[in-house]
Amino acid sequence: MLVSGGASVAYTPSVLDYEGIRGALEGVELPCAFVDVDALDRNIARVRALVSRQELPLRVASKSVRVVSLLRRIIDGGGSLFQGVMCFSCAEAVFLAQRGFDDLLIAYPPFQKLDLNRVARLSADGVRVAVMCDSPGSLRRLSRAGVEHGTTVNTVLCVDMSLKALGGRVHVGVRRSPLHEEQAVLDLADQASSLPGVNFYGLMGYEAQVAGLGDANPFEPRANVVKSMVRRVSAFELGRRRRRIVDALGRAGLTPVLVNGGGSGSLDTTTRATGVTEVTAGSAFLKPHLFDYFRNAHMQELEPAAFFAVEITRRPTPDIVTCLGGGYIASGATSPDKQPLPYLPHGLSLLDIEGAGEVQTPLRVAHDAGVSVSVGDPVIFRHAKAGELAERFERYHLVSAGKVVDTVPTYRGEGQCFL
Ligand SMILES: Cc1ncc(COP(=O)(O)O)c(C=O)c1O
Repeated sequence: MLVSGGASVAYTPSVLDYEGIRGALEGVELPCAFVDVDALDRNIARVRALVSRQELPLRVASKSVRVVSLLRRIIDGGGSLFQGVMCFSCAEAVFLAQRGFDDLLIAYPPFQKLDLNRVARLSADGVRVAVMCDSPGSLRRLSRAGVEHGTTVNTVLCVDMSLKALGGRVHVGVRRSPLHEEQAVLDLADQASSLPGVNFYGLMGYEAQVAGLGDANPFEPRANVVKSMVRRVSAFELGRRRRRIVDALGRAGLTPVLVNGGGSGSLDTTTRATGVTEVTAGSAFLKPHLFDYFRNAHMQELEPAAFFAVEITRRPTPDIVTCLGGGYIASGATSPDKQPLPYLPHGLSLLDIEGAGEVQTPLRVAHDAGVSVSVGDPVIFRHAKAGELAERFERYHLVSAGKVVDTVPTYRGEGQCFL
């Protein structure tokens, strides 16, 4: 068990050991971020085995990686089953196209003209690209951009996969698309297929309340039973609804080429039977600590692969060491589980009153657990989320068999900052 911010967190083992990683980072400037590429490769193989059993191709969510060479490593490692990238912005899609990536799905609808033009230009240049849309207004704008660029832009409709009850008064899931019911999707698909400059290409139905909702979260133990229930009920309801929508589109002569669904936490339940033609995952490969808190077997098998190291620079009391930096808080609803998790050596925990700070992060030392650390030692942390770590560092060191074997730039290191 690790203890962090008052919660007892089950220690998810990796092959990394503290002495080994300290040796590997000898001479490396701290703070630094690093990826255990052996663990990453094993995660790639695990995910590939799972989607291969389900006979579904996988699209890699770039937002959860944000390092070009790692995106490439993941896609190559997945063989023919890993196809395409789920991008998070139009500018990012342009950047990835320039780096030789193809089959780009921009998963969050753009609105500004600049972005619509970017997508239209990619499409006119022959890049395989599709962009999310969820309203007649943005569809018309996209249509104009397509016409102006003399091209037809593939559009994918984002379907709301949240769970609604009591006539919509109860809503469980994310607030993204207004397209919830079959008829709303049919109407917009029909418009997309009749407007010039756009083409109805498919659907995306991301079930956030299944794929991103861990039901074994030590930071909110009382909510876990409810989360488990939400996951089960949602997986059942949305599987049937997505299937029904796809079937209705088919009957209307609007069979989607692509139906994307799922995320790392739902790779076991987002199957062909639930209407998808492909699944998405990103976090599964690097396994940040929020993805420890899932009960499903495939999530438990994954290993942590991305870390950061900060230096202990002070010792305010014998029981506390203070590190320089470390306050890399994850986005989302503000809660203790969005803080980084002190990982190695075991037995260090954040202080509730300070947490992980902008410039200083104090840690309590559990002497009874046999922890011995000194000023000058590195402390290894895990970020709560997979991609955001790359926004804090210009480079990732790649560690294999106890050595830094390469150093690669993050998006930030390439001077890119998309959102
Ligand atoms: C549209 C969409 N698909 C899939 C995912 C899953 O990404 P990951 O596998 O990194 O959790 C997300 C995450 O937010 C998403 O927004």
